[in-house]
Amino acid sequence: MKKPTISMIVAMDENRGIGYQGKIPWHIKEDLLRFKHLTLGKTVIMGRKTFESVLGYYQKSGRPIPERNHIIITRDRNYQSPLENSFVVDSIEKAIRLAKRIEEKEVFISGGAQTFAQGIKYADKLYLTIVDGEFKTDTVFPEYKHIFKKKIFEEKKEAEDYRFRFVELMK
Ligand SMILES: NC(=O)c1ccc[n+]([C@@H]2O[C@H](COP(=O)([O-])OP(=O)(O)OC[C@H]3O[C@@H](n4cnc5c(N)ncnc54)[C@H](OP(=O)(O)O)[C@@H]3O)[C@@H](O)[C@H]2O)c1
Repeated sequence: MKKPTISMIVAMDENRGIGYQGKIPWHIKEDLLRFKHLTLGKTVIMGRKTFESVLGYYQKSGRPIPERNHIIITRDRNYQSPLENSFVVDSIEKAIRLAKRIEEKEVFISGGAQTFAQGIKYADKLYLTIVDGEFKTDTVFPEYKHIFKKKIFEEKKEAEDYRFRFVELMK
């Protein structure tokens, strides 16, 4: 089987803040759509907290969760995911190993902060959304500029009262 690209995908503010009280501190539809389109039909790895926040978002909106494989990391041995095509593991290492077995195109480490911190060493590529401004946050993305040095894409955007840019970096 072909080896997949291991990517990380994150939206952050200018201080690398990514979340506050279990939620993303901004609501940018275009960014959510970008996440959906990039990950559709592929494999995502999420910490249990982020997985539950994504589930809650879709349950509230009534929309179906996009078709993709979900690998959830938790220390809870009895954890059950309500989704088909989902797998529960107890470490990032096991998540990456499993992802390489089931995915041949691209694997997305999708957060949150604990999962990014543990997963950054495995990633080849980083999809960033950098939102202009400083938000109230309690979770941050790790330092990445010394790791992902090659910028391969950048696009400036303005929507819904936010200014942001999509950036893609490689190691
Ligand atoms: N802006 C963005 O792009 C973005 C993306 C994703 C998430 N977020 C935000 O990030 C925040 C959540 O991040 P977080 O760091 O609190 O949580 P997280 O990484 O989503 O999940 C943490 C959980 O993962 C499990 N876990 C972590 N390390 C583990 C290990 N070594 N072995 C086994 N299980 C492990 C544990 O689950 P158990 O407790 O079940 O054992 C832990 O409580 C939220 O605010 C969310 O909105 C932002």
